[in-house]
Amino acid sequence: MTKKKLKIAIDSPAAAGAGTVAKALSKYFNLLYLDTGKIYRYIAYLKKNSPEKYNLNFLKKKIKVLKLKELEKKNLSNDEIGTLASKIAKDKKIRKLVHNFQINCAYRFPRKFNGCCLDGRDITYKIIPDANFKFFITASLRVRTLRRYRELRKLGKKTTLLNVRKSIKNRDYRDFNRRISPLKRTKDSILINTSNLTKSACFLKLKNIIEKETKY
Ligand code: C5P
Repeated sequence: MTKKKLKIAIDSPAAAGAGTVAKALSKYFNLLYLDTGKIYRYIAYLKKNSPEKYNLNFLKKKIKVLKLKELEKKNLSNDEIGTLASKIAKDKKIRKLVHNFQINCAYRFPRKFNGCCLDGRDITYKIIPDANFKFFITASLRVRTLRRYRELRKLGKKTTLLNVRKSIKNRDYRDFNRRISPLKRTKDSILINTSNLTKSACFLKLKNIIEKETKY
């Protein structure tokens, strides 16, 4: 079989480990990686920090010139931004803006890459419906809370387990139940529960699935 471009689509609720495994897979298979949540977080950041300029035209201009490298540099990981992002993500016009940016990454990535890997909430059915591999990555609320709590503490953010749990639960509710592009597991997505998996075990599991089925 000849080498072809590999497209991986991952959907997951917050703090389930999707970003970590997506990054590791992208490095291993040399894929362009996009954490799509970061774009919604970036918009939330703009809303919070430039409320006087914030409108659809302002966002259009910002997204038009947005570079992946620039997005990676921004510190968007706090819970307040995550919550605001999940509220903003309900807006049809904003989703359309973000949609175009994602499509560009998924289908027009630089030739040096062997493909792309995107993770988010609607990637498997809206952004890359023809992906070669689709995963729905999840973990128990307890494990996700602990992981996010440790992550935030490591970044020096003051918070409590209870607050983190509440924020994840609220975000889950909004993401699973919104009318436009809700988070869901599609029939053709492989379910991966990372509750009892280490980062490397999770990576190996997905890598093996991909390598077993095709020659990339
Ligand atoms: O993945 P992350 O936690 O950074 O995403 C922040 C928020 O952005 C999510 O809670 C979700 O509401 C929204 N999002 C989305 N669609 C995506 C990625 C993220 O609606 N593809």
